[in-house]
Amino acid sequence: MHRPVMLEEVLRALDPQPGERMADGTLGHGGHASALLPRLLPGGSLLGLDQDPLQIPVAEARLRAQGFPEDTLIVRRSNFAGLPRILAELGWTGLDGILLDLGVSSMQIDNPERGFSYKHQGPLDMRMNPNRGETAAAWLTKSTPEKLEAVLFRNADEPHAERLARALAGQRLETCEALADAIRSVLTETDAAASIPRVFQALRIQINDEFGALESILRDLPICLNPNGRVAVLTFHSGEDRRAKHTFAAGLKDGTYAEFAKEPLRPSAQEIRDNPRASCAKLRWARKS
Ligand SMILES: C[S@@+](CC[C@H](N)C(=O)[O-])C[C@H]1O[C@@H](n2cnc3c(N)ncnc32)[C@H](O)[C@@H]1O
Repeated sequence: MHRPVMLEEVLRALDPQPGERMADGTLGHGGHASALLPRLLPGGSLLGLDQDPLQIPVAEARLRAQGFPEDTLIVRRSNFAGLPRILAELGWTGLDGILLDLGVSSMQIDNPERGFSYKHQGPLDMRMNPNRGETAAAWLTKSTPEKLEAVLFRNADEPHAERLARALAGQRLETCEALADAIRSVLTETDAAASIPRVFQALRIQINDEFGALESILRDLPICLNPNGRVAVLTFHSGEDRRAKHTFAAGLKDGTYAEFAKEPLRPSAQEIRDNPRASCAKLRWARKS
């Protein structure tokens, strides 16, 4: 398993202190959480959320085995858009830090049954919560060229969006391999090699309403954070980074935030060498007034 993305930078941005309460909205494997938790002790606690019902028990077991009991680590299966409701349920009035490490985990990508990766044979599913919503295959079958073109363009800046949408919309493509082959049948080999990951990214964002969830939590951050509370958002493509940047810039202007990272932090060359997934990571952080 890889080291959590930009761990030192995330710790510096969140600056966890003993006795503080923080939330990790994207628990994943619990990598960032296991570095945050000891720094919140004694007296502090971490709320860990993930919307994936398969990921949550694995992360929780791993963190419990490291010695973090229920009063220190609270785990809930939830979309992070539900954070305000969960805080109310717990009776927590505010958080000193919130981490969002967006996108999918390697455990999700590497499992062919989840259908996230063009590198595996598996059903074209892509749901982070397989108990909810429709699969990417079902969505694609129902989609129109206009709708698919907009999704490819908006979610992945796909330059061949129009041509691909005409060819793929309404098709019954049940597997990841079938989708990759369908893309190869429309584009040159070189163009297809670049477009396949973008098409998979665009569909994943659509199927999981990733921008909707991000916009919702960005809007709700001020009510979830204590004064002087910190937020760190790890983004992996321009659509995510733009949303975080605009929210924090507007919040600085209206006095919600005292400061934010105008220039995103990037992983070191060494980290990119060790973990290629980190290569497009950007860290935006902000501190509430
Ligand atoms: C990149 S991984 C996080 C890795 C984690 N930081 C670690 O160190 O192990 C992203 C995780 O966030 C979850 N996730 C993505 N979007 C989510 C959302 N809107 N609400 C809750 N969980 C989400 C995914 O299911 C995945 O497990």
